[in-house]
Parts: sequence; C-alpha cells; structure tokens
Amino acid sequence: MSASDYPGSHSVVRWPREKTTPNKALQLDQCELAENGFQLIRQYGVDVSRLERDLDWISGGQLYYSSRVGALCHQYSVLPESANFSEQMLGGGFHTDFMFQPNPPAYIALLCLQPDPRHPLYGRNQVVHVRPFLERMQQIFGVSEQELKEYRLLYDLAERGRFEQPILSDLDGKPIFRFHERLLAKGQMKGISAPDMSVAAMLHAVMMEVMADICLDRGDLLILSNHNALHRRGECSIEFAGVAGKWHAREMATIRFNL
Ligand SMILES: [Fe+2]
Repeated sequence: MSASDYPGSHSVVRWPREKTTPNKALQLDQCELAENGFQLIRQYGVDVSRLERDLDWISGGQLYYSSRVGALCHQYSVLPESANFSEQMLGGGFHTDFMFQPNPPAYIALLCLQPDPRHPLYGRNQVVHVRPFLERMQQIFGVSEQELKEYRLLYDLAERGRFEQPILSDLDGKPIFRFHERLLAKGQMKGISAPDMSVAAMLHAVMMEVMADICLDRGDLLILSNHNALHRRGECSIEFAGVAGKWHAREMATIRFNL
C-alpha cells in the first residue's frame, strides 16, 4: 500500500485489492468469501433493522440466535472498562465466534456504526484466511495441515474447565477453524515441531504475517467467513465528549448467519 492510499483521519484505508460491492441491494459473493475469507461492502448505511431484514432474506431465515447475547443482532461499543472482550480497548485475539458450539455460525456480518476516534489507525478488523495460514505453517515451521488437525490445543475456561481442541476440525466433511487465542491455557502439550518456540507463538506469528487489515468507516459492512477464516480487531481508543457527558468510541452491530 502506498502513502497516497492513507487518506486523512476521516477517510478509510482501502485494502489494496479491494473489490467493492454497490450498496443498493445486499448481495453476498460466495466466491470472494471462499477466496479471501471476507467481503467488504462500503457505505451500506447504519440502519441495523435493514441489515437484519436483508440477512434474514439472503440466509432464508438462518440468522443465529445467541442466548448469551439474547438477540439476533448484537450492538456494542468500546467502553472505558469491561469484562467483555468486544468492549475492551485492548486488541483482541484471533478467534472463531462460538467455537465451542457443535455448529458455529458460518458467517458474521459486522456493521460499523461509529469508527474509532483515531480511525483508521485504531479499531481495524483483521482476518486470517485458512489457505495462506496453512501454506506458511508448512513453509516456516514444517507443520502440516494433518498435524494441525491432530494437535490438541489446551483451553482453560472458567465455566468448562480444561478442554482440548485442535485448531482445525471437520464439519460436514470440510475442515473449519475452531480457535480462540485469548482463551488458550498457559502451558500447552508438546508434540509440534519447534523446540525453541511455544505453539501459541508459532500460530500467532503466522497469523500476524498472513492477516488482511480492514478499516471500516461509518456505515461500512464486513462479511466474514467464520469457518475458513479467523478474525480479531486491533487496539481501540476512546474519547471523552465532555459537553455530551459521555464516551465516544467504536460502535458495531453484529449478526451471525448461515447460507
Ligand atoms: Fe468475533
């Protein structure tokens, strides 16, 4: 990306080979979602009810209801203090949404309602597609897809205890990601080839190398594959709007769905 691709603070950094979809009617490009792990729709608008209607129609009613969220659409913003990962200023870990469910939702729609006060430097979305991830794991560390399917990562969750899960698993005969970087247990089992590096560090290094950075401006919509890509978001900032007496921060709406 050249310097001229970085506009002023109220514009958007474009992904270098960005293919934009007109916002007249929401159409998903399944080739692009399969190839890149995401599809970007600029200037869709901030009408959350419209997004829910559009996705309900496109998915044939297969919107994902989360009992934890208590709704089809999850709206959230960055807060000065929160126990919830999505509301923290700290950068997130690469993950699959609802990785512990037997059938994690296939797609995630992320609508930007308000960009970060320091957009586009902060609050970026970052996506790791499975193909370059597997290629680089093999090239850099000599770790094969089969080894990743067999190597059981250890998670330590307050509500489930210790839990083992490979980063790749089969769902309906296809390999999908199942991973949550921030929930990994401290000590991992041995058995993957890199004597001087932890498994978590190997995975993270390759993810950081192959990830795509996407900066969403107000009204931009990002559709992610939750099966053949991992995602996270970068560090966020916050601004105190003194006159209004409240915090000004990145605000998003999320809907998960199947096709
Ligand atoms: Fe997520």
